[in-house]
Amino acid sequence: MDKLLIRGGRPLEGSVRISGAKNSALPIMCAALLTEDPLALTNVPRLMDVRTMAKLLAQIGVEAGTQSDGRITLCASKVKNPEAPYELVKTMRASVLVLGPLLARCGRARVSLPGGCAIGQRPVDQHIKGLQAMGARIYVEHGYMIAAAQRLRGAHILMDLVTVTGTENLMMAAALAQGTTVLENAAREPEVVDLARCLAAMGARIEGAGTGTIRVEGVRTLGGAEHAVMPDRIETGTFLAAVTAAGGKVRLLGAAPDTLEATLDKLKEAGARIAATGDEIEIEMEGRPKSVSLRTAPYPGFATDMQAQFMALDAVASGTGVITETIFENRFMHALELQRLGADIAIQGNTAVVKGVERLQGANVMATDLRASASLVIAGLVAQGETLIERIYHLDRGYEELEKKFAALGAKIERVK
Ligand code: EPU
Repeated sequence: MDKLLIRGGRPLEGSVRISGAKNSALPIMCAALLTEDPLALTNVPRLMDVRTMAKLLAQIGVEAGTQSDGRITLCASKVKNPEAPYELVKTMRASVLVLGPLLARCGRARVSLPGGCAIGQRPVDQHIKGLQAMGARIYVEHGYMIAAAQRLRGAHILMDLVTVTGTENLMMAAALAQGTTVLENAAREPEVVDLARCLAAMGARIEGAGTGTIRVEGVRTLGGAEHAVMPDRIETGTFLAAVTAAGGKVRLLGAAPDTLEATLDKLKEAGARIAATGDEIEIEMEGRPKSVSLRTAPYPGFATDMQAQFMALDAVASGTGVITETIFENRFMHALELQRLGADIAIQGNTAVVKGVERLQGANVMATDLRASASLVIAGLVAQGETLIERIYHLDRGYEELEKKFAALGAKIERVK
């Protein structure tokens, strides 16, 4: 299995191009199931999760053009097998995003329950509740959700909590339902807005994406479209946090600064100078960062997907940062690995108290999930000596060529086979 070897202690200099957003590309790929016409996507990141989604869609019957230069065309002219098997769902929870589209398009679906995952329980009860409100019959048999409906009907759905993929699944289902669906307490994440934009280009009638209330007027059929996936705000934030921790001056190209307000505010508080114009962000950092405290929350609050990277930043900052995780109940596994590098972190329940130390020291560490891996990369970049990160397949799921991009910024980082 591949590992990453990092020799820390160098500032980052230069420019880096941001890839398309994983968490936008995955639901948008599923939207291809809603039409028999081709959906042509650009700015699709080259990631393991995207390949897994393409494999799942292929099993369902979606034909995919070859992916080159971030372009991929998906055509679901026929849906031959409306099913998401356990083997794929267990490796990528986003597979559950085929449920809404399959039900809306074919009137039936068989999708494996995802089960627990490293960062928390992550149930899908809100997806099920919403589809049931739209008239679907859903029961669980042998670990699978078996769903059926004649034609979904519009409904007024109040979600018990804010769920990103839940909102996306229901929005896609509602696009082909009969009548109007209102989703209350909907997720406001930019990726939901990106999906809504793609659906609108396919002919869907959606209002309010990006607010807590989304209104979808169902249509009979959707058509093909072209859509460019939005820039990855978490990849962007990961590079920005790395520069703030390691120092230097970097320009990020092809980014979406307007989706990063909470992250940018915290980095400025840590001492980074940041200027954003159009789709570029320039960041400059000198000296040791100042600790920041934060609390994760649904968008526009501070993203849970940036929490681990900020813990690495706080680990070397001056002062003490208090980090509270409110979205997932078990998303502090990186703390133990950061401690192996010399970080001073005390955890109580969903709060981590991080006392910054002058220097981390390189060590062997293990990646436990995607964003935890990113935090270890940041820590490795600032640590003294060598850090060897194992299990980086987590990183490959969600970051496109992260080590090459960091190496281009002057970091000593290489993949060891
Ligand atoms: N939840 C329920 N019931 C549901 C759905 C969610 O209780 O039916 C709970 C979850 O257990 C969690 C909270 O609600 O405690 C929020 O979960 P959400 O459904 O919003 O998460 P998700 O849609 O499964 C997406 C991203 C995650 C990101 C979260 C939160 C995708 C493919 N995944 O997951 O991304 O952390 O939203 O912003 O969009 C990552 O990229 O590393 C990643 C984990």
